[in-house]
Amino acid sequence: MITLRPATPDDIPLLEAWDDEPVVAASDPNDDWGWEQTLATAGLENLVAELDGRPIGFIQITDLVRDESRYWGGPQPGFLAIDIWIGELDLRGQGHGRAMMELAIARCFEDPAIHTILIDPITTNADAITFYRRLGFTFLETRQFGDDLCAVHQLTRQIWQQGPNP
Ligand SMILES: CC(C)(COP(=O)(O)OP(=O)(O)OC[C@H]1O[C@@H](n2cnc3c(N)ncnc32)[C@H](O)[C@@H]1OP(=O)(O)O)[C@@H](O)C(=O)NCCC(=O)NCCS
Repeated sequence: MITLRPATPDDIPLLEAWDDEPVVAASDPNDDWGWEQTLATAGLENLVAELDGRPIGFIQITDLVRDESRYWGGPQPGFLAIDIWIGELDLRGQGHGRAMMELAIARCFEDPAIHTILIDPITTNADAITFYRRLGFTFLETRQFGDDLCAVHQLTRQIWQQGPNP
């Protein structure tokens, strides 16, 4: 069973190792996560995903109002953003990413003020874009974040409430 728990400084060596894994690095080529800083930044919820108690991946939920890094620009009430990866290569493609996202999405929409979740895969990450679309995300716009050209997608509360894609 997949569960999510808050990431702590004790997780930093593992997070750094996952971050260096080639596919994860390719999905985020120009971001330096600086984990101590990341874990201490207000407006970021950093979560480790565990499979039956074994850490396998990471999810970050960004509050677009409170995020001090202002990655997404000015405050946007009602919006959260999600980033995800599975660090353990052999555990991809088995439904764990979907389970992680379903937990994260439900967590986001627990707050009735949240109406939209954003994600920002780089435009060349076709696998991740397919993954997000299977979860109901739809294309919003192409947007430049630093050196990265990203295909921003959104999932609204309304679409989420309609249930999974057929
Ligand atoms: C993207 C990632 C989190 C997906 O997790 P996963 O466990 O491999 O995906 P799942 O097995 O849960 O697949 C969920 C759905 O997405 C689809 N999907 C997943 N990976 C896919 C791929 N490479 N190509 C096509 N479809 C894919 C599956 O077919 C599945 O569809 P369904 O559940 O509707 O049948 C994982 O592959 C990963 O960590 N990739 C590297 C990092 C990354 O790119 N992160 C995104 C950054 S924006």
